[in-house]
Amino acid sequence: MTRNLAGFSWVVFFGTVVMLGVGVLRVVTQTIHYVKPPDAKAGEVIYKTGCIACHGEKGEGAPESMTVFERRYTFPEMSRCDQTTPEPNSAYKTVILHGGPERAFSPIMPAFGQLLTDQQVDDVVAYIRTLCDNKHHFPRGELNLPRALITEKAFPENEVVVSTAMAAKGAPNFTSDIIREQTFGGKYQIETDVPVNYADRDHNWTAGVGDISIGLKRELFSSLQKGSILSVQGGVIVPSGDVKRGFGKGTTTFEPFAAYDQLFKQNTWLQFQVGADLPVNTDKSPRSMYWRTALGQSLARDHALGRLFSPMVEFVAARDFAPDARVDYDVVPQMQVTISKRQHVRGDIGVRKPFTDTAGRDTQVVFYVLWDWADGKLWDGWR
Ligand code: HEC
Repeated sequence: MTRNLAGFSWVVFFGTVVMLGVGVLRVVTQTIHYVKPPDAKAGEVIYKTGCIACHGEKGEGAPESMTVFERRYTFPEMSRCDQTTPEPNSAYKTVILHGGPERAFSPIMPAFGQLLTDQQVDDVVAYIRTLCDNKHHFPRGELNLPRALITEKAFPENEVVVSTAMAAKGAPNFTSDIIREQTFGGKYQIETDVPVNYADRDHNWTAGVGDISIGLKRELFSSLQKGSILSVQGGVIVPSGDVKRGFGKGTTTFEPFAAYDQLFKQNTWLQFQVGADLPVNTDKSPRSMYWRTALGQSLARDHALGRLFSPMVEFVAARDFAPDARVDYDVVPQMQVTISKRQHVRGDIGVRKPFTDTAGRDTQVVFYVLWDWADGKLWDGWR
């Protein structure tokens, strides 16, 4: 079992490295190259001819009395920045080129791929972007990079994630974190994390809730042009878990961190997170700090508009504050893939392999399923 998993982890590791290499080579073909930069003025003419009848003069939707089509709850209000800025241009482009059903939206949204050139679609997307003034400078959806297994990203999210880590060997033992994130005010995010533990102690299954945490994130800076976004978060971990069963630390812990993500031109990206765990009672648990990096590449067919595959590798490190403490390093090769047609349900699986100070730290299989609930109900958006 262990040896198989060790082998598997190397396969995943080298697989990821190769895919990153391929990603770099495909760079030239993968990206949509603008022949000339999109022209919102030209886009306006297209919008006023082809879109206004349904989407209305300001993108708010044509008056219901003038239209007969059924509006779903997903019908966009293009004038609302809180709805439009989290969407990347690629999501709009896909729907305009291929029609609503391409992302499991209503077929009433027609496909314009036969009528408009690539350039014209870019122009009309550029025009749609002007319908929301974004004066509060909400971060743009392009900066919402694929979620890594361990490293927290900077972008404020509306997600429910169930993330599980299980021991790759020894007695069955796993923890599922049920995480819920919600944005407010465009730049803030509230996050709660309820860990549920299962452990086999001498063939007796024991289960229980661990230390629940709550955190507040704030985006400080973002720039689509530079491809960067910076956030800080303050969190509290409460001692709700049963210490005797090994499900908690038995002391309140404060967890501040900063997250910085950098997107490069060809959909290669880096995510950084630096933070600390500061328990109130240091007799129960030492103070520690951590730093984490995720390096990845997003690949999709159809000029980056199709199903998204994101191979990535994380390097995670943690160290107690004690002067003689050692640094624990782990490598986490993994692959994230979009599961639903809407791309609002995604999965990620990888192996967390300690490579320094490995005594007492076992290899783990880690995976999550996430649902971006701002993009639609869980059962919508599949076909
Ligand atoms: C016949 C009516 C109609 C016309 C014409 C139309 N749309 Fe739409 N469009 C819709 C409907 C309906 C939806 C919502 C689909 C849903 O919620 O399932 C939609 C959705 C969209 C979306 C949202 C996709 C998302 O990710 O939320 C975009 C972008 C869009 N349309 C752009 C355009 C553009 C640009 C044009 C003109 C070139 C256009 N539409 C013309 C009806 C129309």
